[in-house]
Amino acid sequence: MLIDWNDRLVLGDARIDQEHQDLVTFINRFFDALTNGAPRDEVCGAAFTLAEQVTQHFNSEVYLMEALHYGARAAHQREHKALMGELGGFLRRVGQEDDRELLKVAVFIKDWFTTHVTTADAQFVGFLQDEVSHEDASEEISLAEMC
Ligand SMILES: [Fe+2]
Ligand SMILES: [Fe+2]
Repeated sequence: MLIDWNDRLVLGDARIDQEHQDLVTFINRFFDALTNGAPRDEVCGAAFTLAEQVTQHFNSEVYLMEALHYGARAAHQREHKALMGELGGFLRRVGQEDDRELLKVAVFIKDWFTTHVTTADAQFVGFLQDEVSHEDASEEISLAEMC
């Protein structure tokens, strides 16, 4: 196991936390396949599945950011695109690289993920929570106006 799911990674939005927890599982599966001496096609399969899951998760965050006109969405998306660029290059080489190189990639993904979740994603979840509390407040006002 490369990453432990821990409180530092819990941001307080149930859906985003669940998706992050799933990504931790896929990062660990890739790492475990690599370090347990699994056949190369299994390692490649784990890498491709991880990249697919990352893409889906990024799409769901970006969808929310666009829908809510999140101010820092361009900078946030730049971080996502930087990782996708790295992953794309990595997937093209994954069949040929030796285990040492693949381990470096796994550690790079882990570091990228933990940094991004605890900074950019934490900021976005803070924004989401503010949005929800404002919505609650405006619902209270409109209910009060109706009575
Ligand atoms: Fe995220
Ligand atoms: Fe993100």
